Amino acid sequence: MPSRRKLLVAGGTLAAAGAAAYMLTRGPGYDAATATLWSPRDAATFDGLVHYASLAANSHNAQAWRFAPTGGGVAILPDMTRALPVADPDHHHLFASLGCAAENLMLAAAAAGRSSALAYRPEEGGRIEIALGQNGEAGPLFEAILERQSTRSTYDGRPVPTADLAALEAAARVDGAEAMLITDAASIARVLDLILAANAVQVADPAFAAELKSWLRFNARAAIETGDGLYAACAGNPPLPSFLGGFIFNRLFTVASENDRYAKQVRSSAGLAVIHSAQDDPRHWVQAGRSCQRFALQAAALGIRQAHVNQAVEVVSIRTQLQALLGLGNRRPDMVLRFGYAPPMPRSMRRPAAEVIVS
Ligand SMILES: Cc1cc2nc3c(=O)[nH]c(=O)nc-3n(C[C@H](O)[C@H](O)[C@H](O)COP(=O)(O)O)c2cc1C
Repeated sequence: MPSRRKLLVAGGTLAAAGAAAYMLTRGPGYDAATATLWSPRDAATFDGLVHYASLAANSHNAQAWRFAPTGGGVAILPDMTRALPVADPDHHHLFASLGCAAENLMLAAAAAGRSSALAYRPEEGGRIEIALGQNGEAGPLFEAILERQSTRSTYDGRPVPTADLAALEAAARVDGAEAMLITDAASIARVLDLILAANAVQVADPAFAAELKSWLRFNARAAIETGDGLYAACAGNPPLPSFLGGFIFNRLFTVASENDRYAKQVRSSAGLAVIHSAQDDPRHWVQAGRSCQRFALQAAALGIRQAHVNQAVEVVSIRTQLQALLGLGNRRPDMVLRFGYAPPMPRSMRRPAAEVIVS
């Protein structure tokens, strides 16, 4: 029988390990930081608008954006120093992410009584200009900005009611882009096959893995310090010291384990949403981003979770197969999301407004 002293020592060691894990993980620091971040601001101010825009979904949480005041509104500028050359060589996701931010910004402006009009300016480095006018109206999607999150867990398999599917479809319809919802098991299985085929290509590519790893934040301290990237706990992974996280990633990031995880996640979902757009150019990528953000906000408003599973649109040869499978003709499949029901996950971080505002 272990002595009382040994038990006390073992208990102490466990407690210390638990305390260390807590400090590294979602200790009070991380929860406080995200609670402050995901809270309301005054949407009538420029900083308030930037705050709401920055809470948008964006690829790898790289936040490849900058915001500048203009005479009559706000300009959103691409930050190419934060581009993802391997996962996103044509900058499609970068411009879609700017579209997500633009949508949040316009909804926030409306909540402060301002109307808005978006113009994409390819001749000026691909900046987006949002002109603000009078007579905006607050809407339910604005209220959902602070609720939305990418929920990368396994869902509970419950179907989404038909009326809610119609609301999701309607919310995602913008000029030039919309969502196709797929809820029958056979069609989901066919798209899943393409997701897994594309995932296998990406996971086996050392350059893809290295780029992804550079955006992983293995513990709360790293996530808070950088204010960007993909924090382990947001994907349901245990937080670890950075060196250990990197070591384990190198060993566990395999085609078999990643495909197994994605297959379970998709099969647990109520359906898939494919955002598709009328043309394959940056102007439409921005619109696809707006559509995708509106889909996610409407989902949040209805208590529906969602997460991206974009592999099949990121590998060009497989994107062509997806386009044919869905009968999209010349329309570009821009993003694929799964949706369904699950408890919330930890929130993600953002950089402070001061770091993304330029004059
Ligand atoms: C264009 C685009 C592509 C994305 N691709 C993926 C993806 O392939 N896998 C994934 O898990 N999340 C993806 N995301 C979600 C982002 O990683 C997520 O928005 C970001 O980490 C911030 O987290 P949040 O959405 O919870 O605020 C994508 C988002 C956008 C806008």
